[in-house]
Formats: sequence, C-alpha cells, structure tokens
Amino acid sequence: MNEQLKQEVASRKTFAIISHPDAGKTTITEQLLLFGGAIRQAGTVKGKKTGKFAKSDWMEIEKQRGISVTSSVMQFDYADKRVNILDTPGHEDFSEDTYRTLMAVDSAVMVIDSAKGIEPQTKKLFKVCRMRGIPIFTFINKLDRDGKEPLDLLAELEEVLEIDSYPMNWPIGMGKGLLGLYDNFHQRIEVHRPDEHGGERYVPLNDAGEIEGPHVLKESTLYDQALEDILLLTEAGNEFSEERIANGELTPVFFGSALTNFGVQTFLDTYLQFAPSPSAHKDEDGEKISPYTEEFSGFIFKIQANMDPAHRDRIAFVRICSGIFERGIDVTLSRTKKKMRLSNSTQFMAESRESVEHAVAGDIIGLYDTGNFQIGDTIFQGKMNVDYEKLPQFTPEMFMRVNAKNVMKQKSFHKGVNQLVQEGAIQLYKTFHTEDYILGAVGQLQFEVFQHRMLNEYNAEVVMTPMGNKIARWIKPEDLDESMSSSRNLLVRDRHDQPLFLFENQFAMRWFSDKYPDVELSALL
Ligand code: G4P
Repeated sequence: MNEQLKQEVASRKTFAIISHPDAGKTTITEQLLLFGGAIRQAGTVKGKKTGKFAKSDWMEIEKQRGISVTSSVMQFDYADKRVNILDTPGHEDFSEDTYRTLMAVDSAVMVIDSAKGIEPQTKKLFKVCRMRGIPIFTFINKLDRDGKEPLDLLAELEEVLEIDSYPMNWPIGMGKGLLGLYDNFHQRIEVHRPDEHGGERYVPLNDAGEIEGPHVLKESTLYDQALEDILLLTEAGNEFSEERIANGELTPVFFGSALTNFGVQTFLDTYLQFAPSPSAHKDEDGEKISPYTEEFSGFIFKIQANMDPAHRDRIAFVRICSGIFERGIDVTLSRTKKKMRLSNSTQFMAESRESVEHAVAGDIIGLYDTGNFQIGDTIFQGKMNVDYEKLPQFTPEMFMRVNAKNVMKQKSFHKGVNQLVQEGAIQLYKTFHTEDYILGAVGQLQFEVFQHRMLNEYNAEVVMTPMGNKIARWIKPEDLDESMSSSRNLLVRDRHDQPLFLFENQFAMRWFSDKYPDVELSALL
C-alpha cells in the first residue's frame, strides 16, 4: 500500500455541523476557523455587526433573510490534521441539501443550545446521521447563559434521540455563575475567566479527581455540586467506548460557550483525536471501496451555480472517496462513460478559493462545470468503473406551475430552470403532451429562492401559480396506461423521464389503488 497516501488519508477529518437555527453553528464554525488560522478575525464567517458577510452565505437572499441556504466547505490545517468542515443550511426548507451533504462526511458535530435542548431540526438531522451510522459528537453551547440542568440535557439526549451519551467534561455552574469545566478526559479543570478565579487557565486534578490543596474554586458550592454529579455519572452513566462512538451508538458530549470561546479548543483537540478518518464508501451494489485504493474516485454531492457573481461560474463539489487527485488527471464520468480531464479545480479555504494541485480521499474539491455534471454523479480514474450509492431523494410535497413572464425571454428561462434543477435546488416535472413546467419542493422557501435566483442570475422573471399540496407517486412505465389519469390526479414525467402521478389527496390515491390493485405506486424517501 502507498504509505504516503495512507498517512495523508489518516490525517483527514471531514465533518458537518448540524443544529437547529440559532444554536450557534456559525459562531462555533468561526472559532474553529480561527484556531485553524483560516481566518484572522471574528465576524468573517457571519458578521451581522461588522457588516461583513459569511463566506458561506454566498447568495443575496441569504443576506436578506439571515438564513443559510446552501452548504459550503471550509478547509484548514490544525495539529497535523487537515480539517474539512461542511456547512449545512439550518432552515428546514433546505433539508434536502443538508441530507446530501451528510452523505459526504465521516462524522457530525451536533450543536445544542443549553437553554433549548433538542429542537425539531436537530432531531431530523440527527436521524439522517443515525441512518448512515456516522459518529456524532455533541457540543452543548451557550453555557455563559442560564440553561437547563446538565443532567437533564443528557437525559434529553437519551430520551428524545435515543442515543447513549458520555460527558467529556462537565460544567461547574452556568450563566453568570459559570466557574469552569471539569474536564474528565484531561483530568483538569478549565477555568472560566482565569483572572477572577485563581489565575491559571487549567487546574490539574489529583488521582481522586479533585483539586489538590486549597483553591478559590473549592470555596464554591458549585464545585461540590459538579463533583457530586460526576460521581453519579461514574456510577450510573455510560462507559466510554471508542467502538461505540465509531458506530454512532454513543455520543461524546462537550459543554462550552462558542461566543466567549470557552471550551471550544478543548472540544476541537479531543474531537480530532476521536473523529474518524475517511473510511470505505459503498458503491451501488453495497460493495465497499477503500479510501486507500490508489486510483482516484469520488461523487458529486452538490452543484452550485453563480457562487461568484463576478464570474457566473458553476461548481460541482466532489467528495473524494479513494486515491489521489492531481490537477489535470483524466477521469471517466460513470453515468455517461464520458472521459474528461480535470484541469480546472478549486479548493475552499474560508477566505479564498485556491486552485487545488493535490488532494486525497476525504477532501472536498470543486470542479468548474460547463454542464457535464449532475448531483450524485460518480467520477473515477482508470478502470475502476465504480458507481457510488445513490444520494437520498425526497418526495416533494408542494407544487407550482411556472412560466416565463416575458415570452421573449424563453431562452434564459429554460437555461435557468435547467441549471437550478441540475443543482438539485428544486424538482422539475413536465405534463404529458403539453410539456408544461411544474416545480416541486419540500419547503416553501425553495420556491422563493428559485424565483429570486431566476431573476438575479438569469434575468428571467417567472410567474408561479400555486397548485397546493399533492402526493407524488411514481409508477413503473410498463404499468402505465394514460387513461389512468383523471381529474383527481395529474400525470407528469420527472427529469429522468419517469412517469408519476400527482394525487389531489390521500382519498384520490386510495381510489386509484382500489381501481388498479396490481399497480405499484412508490414514493422516494
Ligand atoms: P446558527 O448559525 O446556529 O444559526 O447560530 P449563530 O452562530 O448565528 O448564533 C445565533 C445567536 O446565538 C447569535 O446571536 C450568537 O451570537 C449567539 N450565540 C452563539 N453562541 C453563543 C454562546 O455561546 N453564548 C451566547 N450567549 N450566545 C451565543 P444573535 O444576537 O442572533 O446574532 P449576532 O447579532 O450576535 O451575530
């Protein structure tokens, strides 16, 4: 085996941060980037106050609405590791984008607001990580504010998410009374505001797990309370198990405050020690491809057009699954068997994009795309002939008819629709025969982003007519008889030319199934 490749892959840590909006994902990302030296100033990732804009908030609409619509990628080196953070949109209307991003990571960090506990979006995203069996690390944030009792938060993790937890550190007080973190793992106390509490940032613990000799922290009842909690956890809590962490069955829990940068570095150091490096990825048949396979391969989990308004470019994000990428290598696009040379590629640092010369399994690279790629495509070098497993697709629930407002602008209208559909921003269906365009989405905001981007990026004003909620069900082409279409369902084709019905409601769908009992109807995820 290529030793250098092995070492390089082992140094890769590729993860996503998941959370409910406002839990502090952006703030913690920013702190991590500061530690990695990828940015020099707080407020670079999202600076509402400084007037700067998040690098991850590429689109105007994100700035206007204060939400993160698309995922971005940030890379930095820290403690001999190459860290790739994949940002994910917090808003639930963009969960499809997030789900695809989670296919490209090896672990996830779940940020929880200590006052709010497990919120709905956290729960949903957690489920996807669970489905994939990836390790999940938990950061309970905002310790500088009064929140729920730490023991209650652990109980919530176990009850609501049904995952065992292991606290890596434990708060001594919180809010205004926050004294520090009892760091089980490093056998020390990390002092909050060291100047006020004895001067040192870290106070070592003796073999009995206590501070040796007199110390100002010991004068507080909060210290005793923390020791009591820890005793309880040692006796009744879960045991630390690297194997169970790796299987996604046990989540290590860290406490801290992203805003005041308390506990974040300890989290990063410990996380990088236990977070998995890239492992084998499954292909379509469930076979695993080792990341150490020397030939390059990867899949496209995201396409983003017009990231840089000045250049109007389109970038396909590739998660490398095996081997080495060198600029200019020749690859085959699995779907079309088309051969191509990858000479125009980029990687993402927080403040800039740089041309990438060399990358290995675990890394994310961006390829300038001239329309060759689609979401979910696999590319491979040589004779690998691999096709990675399909990305999850969701059954849209809301539908709109869409037309160009100005008939003279048909060309840019079609171009825009097709590009945004290829990006996976929205689904497109066409009616049989008349070929009317119908858009499908999981969340309302997707339509708004579509409309906004059509105007801003393609100069095409669109007219959208709501069709309301429908139930989309696919039918095998061989089962289809066009006379099955009635006033309660609409027969359309998806972008792969597969037929499906949009049913008015459950009743209409049941009526159909009763009438055609042998016809199988299927939904996506
Ligand atoms: P998100 O990406 O998960 O949506 O959350 P984000 O980091 O934007 O944080 C949401 C709000 O919570 C921000 O306040 C942020 O300053 C605050 N916050 C994040 N971490 C902490 C923490 O550890 N302690 C406290 N007290 N607050 C925290 P905001 O007022 O909405 O925004 P801003 O105007 O401060 O940027």
